[in-house]
Amino acid sequence: MTLYGVGLGPGEADLVTVRGKEVLENAAVVYSPGRLSRTVALNHVDESKIGELDFPMTKDEEKLRTAWKEAAAEIAPNARDDDVAFVTLGDPNVYSTFGHLRRTIDAFHPAVELEIVPGVSAVTAFATAMGVEIEAGAGLSLREAAAGHSPTGPDRMILFKVTDAPATHEGLVEAGYDVTYGRRLFMEQGDTIITDDPDEIDERDYYTLAYAEKEGLEVEQATAAFETDDETGTDETTADGEPVTDGGERRASERAEGRAGGDRGGHR
Ligand SMILES: C[S@@+](CC[C@H](N)C(=O)[O-])C[C@H]1O[C@@H](n2cnc3c(N)ncnc32)[C@H](O)[C@@H]1O
Repeated sequence: MTLYGVGLGPGEADLVTVRGKEVLENAAVVYSPGRLSRTVALNHVDESKIGELDFPMTKDEEKLRTAWKEAAAEIAPNARDDDVAFVTLGDPNVYSTFGHLRRTIDAFHPAVELEIVPGVSAVTAFATAMGVEIEAGAGLSLREAAAGHSPTGPDRMILFKVTDAPATHEGLVEAGYDVTYGRRLFMEQGDTIITDDPDEIDERDYYTLAYAEKEGLEVEQATAAFETDDETGTDETTADGEPVTDGGERRASERAEGRAGGDRGGHR
């Protein structure tokens, strides 16, 4: 039988994939590493199927190894007899606890079959939530920005684990980035916030990311020529008959506008 790593998506129950839902429904036990993933899983399985695992809040590597060995020792016998699932928010292969479990199972219980069901990651959910398009030809880098760090370099970055937005903001603006923050995007628990003001989200919330884009980045797309003037909504032309566009460039403040304030409907 098989241990499935199931990506649950960003946090709304109906963003679990059809395959993920089927696996959860058929699993004998569903393990979750945290309260939020457990809450999402409970939309699809009965509480009696939820398996208990104990994960200490520590960065001590020895303690972490011990905890993962214990978790694997709990899961492996069940995965020999039945299909079981381990759920994570987003995708199991993106900054996820599932990697620890996979390595521990591979090392100590190699007979256990492993399969992964991908999930909608915050990597893609942010784009829809913030109205960002990563156009053909554009680059996008993933970075972590915990504890006020401000990684710089690439033209466009998604920053995970933004736990001190004002401090991170300072470094990014100094390096010439426009920044938009997204908190609890497509999540059922808590308020969704999209803003370009770091002071609005100065209270720490782990489920916060940022999209940083170098100021003045030009976007050259053939269909940008179709864009109309935002103010009037008309197809204005210049005296030469050329369409009036802003060159396809959207600033952080425009992205944040009209979406902040927990309006989940605005995402869809
Ligand atoms: C450990 S990573 C997990 C990423 C997850 N596996 C994924 O694929 O989306 C946790 C970080 O992802 C980001 N994140 C995950 N879900 C999010 C959401 N719904 N809204 C905003 N940020 C989110 C936050 O930056 C958070 O600190």
